[in-house]
Amino acid sequence: MPLRASSAPAAAPHHPHRDDADHPARQGRQAARPSAPDRCRPRTRASAVTWPQQVGDLLHPLEDYTRLHAATLRRHGGRVLDLSFPNPRFLHDARPYEVLAELAARTDPLDLRYSPFGGYTSVRLRIAAALARAHDQPYTWKSIIMTAGATAALSVTLRTLFTPPERVMLITPCWMDYPLYLAERGLGCDLVPAAGDKRLDLAAIEHAWTPLTRALIISQPVSPTGIVYRDEELRALATLLQQLSPEHPAVLIADEAHRDQVWATTSCPAPAAHYPHTITVYSFGKAWQMPGQRAGYIATSPQLAPCLDAPRRLEQGMRLTGHAAPAALLQHLAAALCDVSFDLTGLADLQRHARGELAKYGVDVLPGDATRFVYARCPTGDLPTFVSALAQRGVLVLPSTVFHEPGWFRISLNTPEPEMSQAARIISEVAHA
Ligand SMILES: Cc1ncc(COP(=O)(O)O)c(C=O)c1O
Repeated sequence: MPLRASSAPAAAPHHPHRDDADHPARQGRQAARPSAPDRCRPRTRASAVTWPQQVGDLLHPLEDYTRLHAATLRRHGGRVLDLSFPNPRFLHDARPYEVLAELAARTDPLDLRYSPFGGYTSVRLRIAAALARAHDQPYTWKSIIMTAGATAALSVTLRTLFTPPERVMLITPCWMDYPLYLAERGLGCDLVPAAGDKRLDLAAIEHAWTPLTRALIISQPVSPTGIVYRDEELRALATLLQQLSPEHPAVLIADEAHRDQVWATTSCPAPAAHYPHTITVYSFGKAWQMPGQRAGYIATSPQLAPCLDAPRRLEQGMRLTGHAAPAALLQHLAAALCDVSFDLTGLADLQRHARGELAKYGVDVLPGDATRFVYARCPTGDLPTFVSALAQRGVLVLPSTVFHEPGWFRISLNTPEPEMSQAARIISEVAHA
């Protein structure tokens, strides 16, 4: 099953000064919206709901890949080397599973009662205290909103705090669905490629900034590349943001979903410690190795909270979007584990092994210090064909087009060393076929 030649350009970058009324996502939304008195009338006839073109274009690349993934699993069954999504097949650190089992064993009905939309206060208090130590910022419990993973955290933040025709800037490669949430909300989206070494390109950010830009999303550590931004890079970014938005400070959205998987260095500076108008999102799914359990949070920096009335609006946003806080047991687990440092020895060993094996076969791997991912340059000129050919041989990797960048692929280290070696050998054979 061939993949499409490239991902659709995500939420097409716009000319800074053009009226946003011609934004395709906005056109679609406006056309679909009934006039006020009609809004609540029951429909007499079923009608097909279609997405605005831009949203559809952003949905398709991952849907195409999911079909390839399913077809490969059907064809190769248990022999498939699935390095696509981060679903590890073995545990590096069993403690989260042990704590979950203990909690489940001694839980009583009161522990499983309804939670407020922002989460249980006792849980928010514990997380605020832990994050205050990690970020060196005086978070309060109100500034923490518990969410069903980083996905819900990002979607609620973008849908609640920004309004069309405002624009949000992204650094590519980036997590796949940032542009999708922006397009669905009708917000403008400007994609700014990272520098050649995949670090921040401040000149490009400055060049792409518009009078309507209200936020910049970065991930720290960077997903999918595994780069960790250093203090001096974040300091320079903060200075630039202050210069670009002196009157209404832009919001920096720091996606720290992979913060607890820094395997090659001890430091992972927090963007919130450098820039006061920061919203941090986090996922407990990554280091805990339970992504399907969906637990995370939004944390509003103390200085930002009063400006945007962000905590209250985010709590309302949780209700408006129907995103209730995570399941009760998961919140108790979050509170129990929010101070735990993970044992990353196994991940570090696996990273070094995989990188060494790929380098042995001449694959150009991007140096990285964090995450469970290896980001490597596509060894042929044709990424979709390369990824499809690997799938034919039973190896699943993600093409960088789902991260809004051409020419690379991402490996997720889901399997033990012998299977990683086997995958590296097949990658090399397909590259040289
Ligand atoms: C950078 C980044 N942000 C957000 C998410 C979504 O996180 P979650 O699985 O907790 O919803 C991911 C998941 O892979 C990610 O890599």
